[in-house]
Amino acid sequence: MLLMIVPLLALVTQGLALDNGLLKTPPMGWLAWERFRCNINCQDDPQNCISEQLFMEMADRLAQDGWRDLGYKYLNIDDCWIGGRDNQGNLVADPKRFPNGIPFLADYAHSLGLKLGIYADLGNFTCMGYPGTTLDKVVQDAQTFATWQVDMLKLDGCYSTSLERAHGYPKMAAALNATGHPIAFSCSWPAYEGGLPPKVNYTTLAKTCNLWRNYEDIQDSWSSMLNILDWFVSHQDVLQPVAGPGHWNDPDMLLIGNFGLSFEQAQSQMALWTVLAAPLFMSTDLRTISARNMDILQNPLMIKIHQDPLGIQGRRILKEKSQIEVYLRPLSNKASALVFFSRRMDIPYHYQSSLANLSYSSTYIYEVQNVYTGETISGLRAYTNFTVVINPSGVVMWYVYPTKNPNTSWL
Ligand SMILES: *[C@@H]1O[C@H](CO)[C@@H](O)[C@H](O)[C@H]1NC(C)=O
Ligand SMILES: *[C@@H]1O[C@H](CO)[C@@H](O)[C@H](O)[C@H]1NC(C)=O
Ligand SMILES: *[C@@H]1O[C@H](CO)[C@@H](O)[C@H](O)[C@H]1NC(C)=O
Ligand SMILES: *[C@@H]1O[C@H](CO)[C@@H](O)[C@H](O)[C@H]1NC(C)=O
Ligand SMILES: *[C@@H]1O[C@H](CO)[C@@H](O)[C@H](O)[C@H]1NC(C)=O
Ligand SMILES: *[C@@H]1O[C@H](CO)[C@@H](O)[C@H](O)[C@H]1NC(C)=O
Repeated sequence: MLLMIVPLLALVTQGLALDNGLLKTPPMGWLAWERFRCNINCQDDPQNCISEQLFMEMADRLAQDGWRDLGYKYLNIDDCWIGGRDNQGNLVADPKRFPNGIPFLADYAHSLGLKLGIYADLGNFTCMGYPGTTLDKVVQDAQTFATWQVDMLKLDGCYSTSLERAHGYPKMAAALNATGHPIAFSCSWPAYEGGLPPKVNYTTLAKTCNLWRNYEDIQDSWSSMLNILDWFVSHQDVLQPVAGPGHWNDPDMLLIGNFGLSFEQAQSQMALWTVLAAPLFMSTDLRTISARNMDILQNPLMIKIHQDPLGIQGRRILKEKSQIEVYLRPLSNKASALVFFSRRMDIPYHYQSSLANLSYSSTYIYEVQNVYTGETISGLRAYTNFTVVINPSGVVMWYVYPTKNPNTSWL
């Protein structure tokens, strides 16, 4: 039953999206903010300050260490790049930290097969106090970004009113379109309005933006990640249906590779963000990331699930008294992804279930691939019990697909 409604959902979301042809699957890449923030102290910390050099070094890593070829194509600048406006009112990058300007960085990214994202703020100032994009500057700044050959714009919402945002975000969408240059549009709009109807109209949002930040900024801690997850799950009836090809909910960046998550927790964030069809924006130092964390982020089956062409956001389908939760994302070709997530804090938990109990049809026999371990289970019937062992704050993630009809006697 569950698997049969999938094509219908896909049809329903068509025609509602922003029509720029971009981000038919959720974007993947790197975004500076969570790890590097507004560190502008290039004097004392030249390796880690927000500068041309930082972005060029991350571009090199994306291109050379396998990231780009797996789909991590966006190299995205966040706040603290702006130096001011010139005599014509055009935005210019900080001349000390970005001596060659943004067009140079865009060229550099493109020469490596990457895309460049930039940041602006619809308001008097950016969140860190740099020049903002007030309503009268929206068209001019869109033209500047297009002239620079930028590929994505994250438009923040500090120092603006609700009314200015209601005018400004659609105005920017129109201005980007009018440039004729394809620029993916990431909106922080709903996060400034509480993230929920009636203040947020997700129909309007899907026509305006390719992705949107619904909720708080992520911080480098497990409690921050859980707080975001809990908010998304408790509002999944509102949020799940509004995501689809070209228009995505964004629970914010991946913390993997930084300081706040254990290995199990890093695996959990990757699995959960993947079933939620969230953008996968890493925000870590790719020059020093460990092999174990790279394995989590570069898992080919994980990325195949994430990039599934149907673009259906998954849901939490079960929350057990045992503090085990089960998430399911329907995928193309009747496949699906299951995440068994433990909120326990004791020892690995033996969780028993059956596919039938997870709403799978008994019309099929299933093949299962464990996404992290590569283990497979062949010929799993819907009513056959299985047990997964889930570590505290960890996940077991399955890729499940149907094979033969169980009635065929020659099996
Ligand atoms: C602008 O919007 C039209 C449809 O409204 C679309 O066909 C076109 O591709 C868009 N162009 C850009 C650059 O986004
Ligand atoms: C933006 O600046 C204008 C002019 O100084 C001021 O009137 C307005 O209140 C400011 N808006 C916000 C949201 O801070
Ligand atoms: C949301 O906006 C659309 C237009 O984009 C409008 O048709 C619809 O009525 C609005 N929904 C609500 C609940 O206000
Ligand atoms: C399947 O669900 C039923 C009804 O909730 C329950 O009684 C049964 O124990 C479950 N089976 C497994 C294997 O967990
Ligand atoms: C399999 O056999 C059962 C019992 O005869 C029947 O109800 C069911 O429809 C069959 N399934 C398929 C897919 O043929
Ligand atoms: C499956 O698990 C349920 C619940 O624990 C149990 O009642 C049932 O007997 C088990 N079925 C089999 C075939 O082991």
